[in-house]
Amino acid sequence: MGTDATLWFMEVRTLQRGEWPLWRQLRFDALSDSPDAFRPTLEEEQDQSDEWWIDIIETTIEHPRGGLWIAEVDSVPVGMLFARIDTDHAVVEVGAMWVHPSVRGRGVGSGLLSAALEWARSRGVRHAELWVTESNSAAMGLYERYGFETTTDNQPLRSGSDSTVRKMESAIWFHPEHRDAG
Ligand SMILES: CC(C)(COP(=O)(O)OP(=O)(O)OC[C@H]1O[C@@H](n2cnc3c(N)ncnc32)[C@H](O)[C@@H]1OP(=O)(O)O)[C@@H](O)C(=O)NCCC(=O)NCCS
Repeated sequence: MGTDATLWFMEVRTLQRGEWPLWRQLRFDALSDSPDAFRPTLEEEQDQSDEWWIDIIETTIEHPRGGLWIAEVDSVPVGMLFARIDTDHAVVEVGAMWVHPSVRGRGVGSGLLSAALEWARSRGVRHAELWVTESNSAAMGLYERYGFETTTDNQPLRSGSDSTVRKMESAIWFHPEHRDAG
């Protein structure tokens, strides 16, 4: 993978049917790299069967209110994001956001979030929400850049953990620079 800015080619796209092993590998990488950024543990998800992965991934891909996005740099998968619109088409929840450490700080997370929020906004959704570990300043910084604000809702990351996750909410903007356009 080229890291020189002149060789940088990043693509964000939706995961396609049959690509469930790719999502699973990214998820294992994410849980291994950032265990406190996600509620489930690596051990829990490694214990799941192929059928479990196929079911949750294919169901999400095929559902009109669900989507999975991946980011590729020079054709190498380096990032992931999940989104689901509620039954009232009022709110989109985003989650499972992860970018490989080797390409952080170069707009990959922004690209993923923009794609999912644009997808939701094009379906008439005007609000977004997510949960983030309170100590995760990088993720909170990214979300704040997209207009997310912290709410009073919080809860333990998982049973037995000292970490706390906090809910953040936002009106949906296609891109930070477009906030004023509503
Ligand atoms: C959070 C994460 C997805 C950000 O991805 P990224 O590709 O590095 O983000 P971007 O390069 O698009 O950064 C976008 C904005 O986020 C904020 N940001 C990103 N990294 C940051 C950091 N280390 N500290 C503070 N703000 C940060 C900045 O506002 C940045 O905008 P800027 O570059 O104009 O300053 C990435 O750090 C990651 O995967 N972390 C581990 C997993 C995780 O925490 N997932 C979130 C679960 S809720």
